[in-house]
Amino acid sequence: MNNREPVTRELFNDVMVPNYAPGAMIPVRGEGSRVWDQDDREYVDFAGGIAVNSLGHAHPGLIGALHEQAEKLWHVSNVLTNEPALRLARTLCELTFAERVFFANSGAEANEAAFKLARRYGWQHQGAEKHEIISFTNSFHGRTLFTVAVGGQAKYLEGFEPAPGGIHHATFNDLDSVKALISKEKTCAVVVEPIQGEGGVMPAEAEFLQGLRDLCDEHNALLIFDEVQCGAGRTGHLYAYQHYGVTPDILTSAKGLGGGFPVAAMLTTEKVAESFGVGTHGSTYGGNPLACAVAQKVIDTISQPEILKGIKARSDKLRKGMMAIGEKYDVFTEVRGEGLLLGCVLTEKWQGRGKDFLNAAQAEGLMILIAGANVIRLAPSLIIPDQDIEEGLERFEKAVATLTK
Ligand SMILES: Cc1ncc(COP(=O)(O)O)c(C=O)c1O
Repeated sequence: MNNREPVTRELFNDVMVPNYAPGAMIPVRGEGSRVWDQDDREYVDFAGGIAVNSLGHAHPGLIGALHEQAEKLWHVSNVLTNEPALRLARTLCELTFAERVFFANSGAEANEAAFKLARRYGWQHQGAEKHEIISFTNSFHGRTLFTVAVGGQAKYLEGFEPAPGGIHHATFNDLDSVKALISKEKTCAVVVEPIQGEGGVMPAEAEFLQGLRDLCDEHNALLIFDEVQCGAGRTGHLYAYQHYGVTPDILTSAKGLGGGFPVAAMLTTEKVAESFGVGTHGSTYGGNPLACAVAQKVIDTISQPEILKGIKARSDKLRKGMMAIGEKYDVFTEVRGEGLLLGCVLTEKWQGRGKDFLNAAQAEGLMILIAGANVIRLAPSLIIPDQDIEEGLERFEKAVATLTK
């Protein structure tokens, strides 16, 4: 064993499956919206672990919740229930449309549960023919075979077929394309991200979501909102459906829900939940006490009105700053998104160069994200301090100045 030997980026290629291509630096610690690498170089974090670190790094409240639970009980499995899971489920029911909660460990698993539940509900209430799922091109729902098949990006399915069948893809923000596919006999669910994250930070139009709600009601289909990326406070509302005023039958939440601890939840109504009877679905770790204790602290914190209001103010500042840089250097056509999930769309000249922006920003001490090759995506901590926004914008401007020189 040589665990004392330094670990380097080169080691990744020797010991890890090559499905990721991580950047050159290895972060070793973080505090708030700042991160330090192995060389003690400091970065401003506008990436937030891809919309996960909702309260930044090393948040004292989350550390406290984790420590407190760590000293009590780590795991019991679902043969028994546990206090943190019950408390968190009760809180989620109090704060949302939900009447029942299922816990999982990742966004993909929460979606897998949602799709299985929708099929089972259709099967139970109408029969086996009612199993079709409608989703949207460019959507992303996870990497299990079912969620990849439902997702609207064919490249993620390449080489993994045969995929589960009965899945149709309509066009996002185009109600007519849904009307052409939906049927009373066959459609069990329509699944949509209120803001497509991986697909380029593309918000749904309110009329589109309301139209989906109406179509689902008309055709006895369940409406599923995948809020894995845009939920848990990111839009400035606890969940994006509250921003849009359109209520789904099933909602999935993960990423920011745990603030960096793996946890996910599927929220639904009492009536729909009934189709997941004893033994129909499960997860060893789902509802783990450590995960639920941390998520409880996250939800208790971000659901406070002053935190939600603060997200709006931070969003305005960040959006304005990015727009100003975009205009000055002629690199963005628009900055879109809601709250602290923002997408800066590259101009024609810079199409396909998202990664260059990411690398240039990193060289200036700023962590950002891309969504595809044409959109710079920002998903910082929901409580990022003003001075970190300002510092990050300064660093981004330097990066863009270098890149466009
Ligand atoms: C909207 C959406 N759904 C599902 C997922 C999958 O989540 P996870 O990677 O936790 O499985 C993601 C991840 O990016 C996502 O953005």
